Amino acid sequence: MIIPVIMAGGTGSRLWPMSRELYPKQFLRLYGENSMLQETVIRLKGLDVSEPLVICNEQHRFLVAEQLRHIDQLSNNIILEPVGRNTAPAITLAALSAVSKGEDPLLLVLAADHVIGNRVAFHQAVQDAIPYAQQGKLVTFGIVAAQPETGYGYIQRGGMLGSNQAPVFRVQRFVEKPDFATALQYLESGEYYWNSGMFLFHAKRFLEEIAQFRPDILEACQKAIATSEPDAQQDFIRVDKKAFIACPDESVDYAVMEKTSDAIVVPLDAGWNDVGSWSALWDVNNKDANGNALTGDVFTHHASNCYINTDEKLVAAVGVENLVIINTKDAVLVIDKSQVQDVKKVVEFLKKNE
Ligand code: GDD
Ligand code: MG
Repeated sequence: MIIPVIMAGGTGSRLWPMSRELYPKQFLRLYGENSMLQETVIRLKGLDVSEPLVICNEQHRFLVAEQLRHIDQLSNNIILEPVGRNTAPAITLAALSAVSKGEDPLLLVLAADHVIGNRVAFHQAVQDAIPYAQQGKLVTFGIVAAQPETGYGYIQRGGMLGSNQAPVFRVQRFVEKPDFATALQYLESGEYYWNSGMFLFHAKRFLEEIAQFRPDILEACQKAIATSEPDAQQDFIRVDKKAFIACPDESVDYAVMEKTSDAIVVPLDAGWNDVGSWSALWDVNNKDANGNALTGDVFTHHASNCYINTDEKLVAAVGVENLVIINTKDAVLVIDKSQVQDVKKVVEFLKKNE
């Protein structure tokens, strides 16, 4: 049995002002007609997997349940975190919940906020990964690195395991979010993949690794889930607040993937994009003849290569290029497309002045 575990508890702050704490990126319709969470669920159709387990923040419980219902997905498998403690605790909670029924399913761990253009290629990569996960490997899906991006994990390819038709590699080294110079060096070596942030492994195998590398995380999660209460009406599993607040905050990439010696990488060439910034959204969206990607009520004249997204008011852009303009009810962002990573400066400023 394979259980898809959808991690949907991030804040997506690089897509401010549309992505907010109360309504983060994974719940927005930024691309196509569904939210990114809904797309993540829909993308599983055709794979032989069970009902997904969604793990998210408590404050988003109704949003998640409603978005799942909208796409006719049963929504009785949702774990609610009282606070975000990053992905290592989230996956640990999911694994503990999965083994509590006396089974040891494979977990297909997925981020809720990626675009994958080629569903067939994604399904094939999952199929290719299954035999390795069944042997106890921790499988990651690697994207051929295209630029020295510092927001990703980097996977150095080791010895080949698969066939020439479906090559699979041992992970020689996993480095989470290197600095720019290191990322450039990795890119130039041609030996590195980006970590897509999706994984396949047996629940018990993951728990063995977390027990070895981060017993503190395992212990906190065990306490938090042991005292958790299923919500009879809504079918949510609520994690105990006091116990979970005490859990260290760490991503799975640092907690396990950088440390394990039992990882393998399945290359994934499926139009993957983690749409981590406004310029990434410009990349994946359809553009007009002048290279503008426009959403909502927008007028342009002599404007080129802009990304403009407006919720309600008309936006008119004249004689500008390479701009991102985001217009929401209570905030407007105007930023050069080459500096979109600095949106986090705005978010930091707002947090300080809250
Ligand atoms: N339930 C839960 N709880 N989910 C979380 C939490 C949490 O505390 N924090 C993050 N998530 C979810 C996010 O919503 C997202 O779907 C996924 O986990 C990944 O988290 P991000 O915060 O977006 O991670 P990242 O983009 O910085 O880095 C990861 O993804 C990259 C690819 O996009 C890493 O795995 C990198 O190695 C990888 O390259
Ligand atoms: Mg991300």
